[in-house]
Amino acid sequence: MKLSFILVAGIALLFNSFEQAAASSPDGKAIYNRECSVCHSVNPPPKSAPPLLSLSAQYHRVFKTKAAGVNAIASFLKLPNKKNAVDQNAISKFGLMPVLSLTDAERRTVSEWVWDQYNSSMRMGRGTGSGKGQGRLNP
Ligand code: HEC
Repeated sequence: MKLSFILVAGIALLFNSFEQAAASSPDGKAIYNRECSVCHSVNPPPKSAPPLLSLSAQYHRVFKTKAAGVNAIASFLKLPNKKNAVDQNAISKFGLMPVLSLTDAERRTVSEWVWDQYNSSMRMGRGTGSGKGQGRLNP
């Protein structure tokens, strides 16, 4: 009885998450500044945790879609544990991340922002590659 309720709630949450993952995250950076920047820098060098850009890159390698990647980041934030982590080395190096008191919406918003860090750094990377493909647009 109780278990099936949890199951139904879980499934509802999952679908809800897929939907929201498509939306943009205007204040993800604000949540990062408030809740994450004490430990995580975006770019190297690291503070007391891996830089988020490299974590974002790892999520992009493991997960094919933004929806799946954002879900994975959000569930790690909800309950950091070794089984869910994409970066096992980071746990040995820095220790397991503590649970933060965030709402589900905040976790989702900041997870989208984390996912997007990799994309925006790639865009910047392309922009500075002048010389190769001049006069042509990258797809
Ligand atoms: C008190 C320090 C601390 C704070 C605050 C913190 N983190 Fe972390 N975080 C860590 C440490 C340490 C690790 C590496 C070990 C691990 O994965 O648990 C980590 C790992 C991660 C990972 C990688 C998990 C994986 O799959 O390997 C993500 C993503 C992440 N943090 C996101 C965030 C976000 C987003 C915030 C803010 C909402 C945040 N962290 C706030 C310390 C922190």
